[in-house]
Amino acid sequence: MNSKKITVGEIGAMKRRGEKIAALTAYDFPMAKLLDEAGIPLLLVGDSLGMVVLGYPDTTHVTMAEMEHHIRAAARAKPNALLGGDLPFKSYETVADAVANAKKLVAAGAEFVKAEGGSEILPQVQAIVAVGISFCGHLGMLPQHVLEEGGYKIKGKPEAEHQKLLDDAKLLADAGAFAIVLELVTPPVAKEISVQISIPTIGIGSGPDCDGQILVTPDLTGSFPWFTPKFVKPKANVAAEIKSAVTPWKSEIGAK
Ligand code: KIV
Repeated sequence: MNSKKITVGEIGAMKRRGEKIAALTAYDFPMAKLLDEAGIPLLLVGDSLGMVVLGYPDTTHVTMAEMEHHIRAAARAKPNALLGGDLPFKSYETVADAVANAKKLVAAGAEFVKAEGGSEILPQVQAIVAVGISFCGHLGMLPQHVLEEGGYKIKGKPEAEHQKLLDDAKLLADAGAFAIVLELVTPPVAKEISVQISIPTIGIGSGPDCDGQILVTPDLTGSFPWFTPKFVKPKANVAAEIKSAVTPWKSEIGAK
């Protein structure tokens, strides 16, 4: 149980104390409440909800209205965990859109916003931070670019990619980001970034040496069994539990 309200400052302090940061996605009231009760300090209403809740093939279909709806639901849990939300595809192409849409997510209940990219979105990041909204970066594999990239690929092996990741991480930290998600970054590069920047790195499929780890909760709980990323070892089989509750009930009521 998170006994006190977690702030962005506390997430930074966890890195300085050498404490690993556990982060998970939550897309609605019960999941935000359960994960907060389990003591997870950092919750994200990720646009991964496009796949694992809304049934889209990737995150590029998620709209601002959908993000606001799910952030409102998760925020109703009033978690002590820090609760953030993703700016969806094409919602931060200009500085004006980035600020206006970040404000909408905050109005819905997000305590920070996250967007994908480095130097390409630096003016947007600086503008979001300038209006007092906490910002989390996202580097490495960028799911909102999956169609141009032709799949979910590991990042950081070629030297140019390695150097760009390092440069982008420093730019985001200097712009005032409080943390950076590193997705599918090759583990030695994720480790190097984590050592070189003062803000926490939160890894997903990027090896053990990030300051924290984040997963898409249905991958961890086995509640979305149709696809599980290779780097996730599910700790439960919620899909099977649901079926094993439904099947005896069906017989009990005499249904076929
Ligand atoms: O959308 C999402 O859930 C994310 C996390 C996996 C980092 O961006």
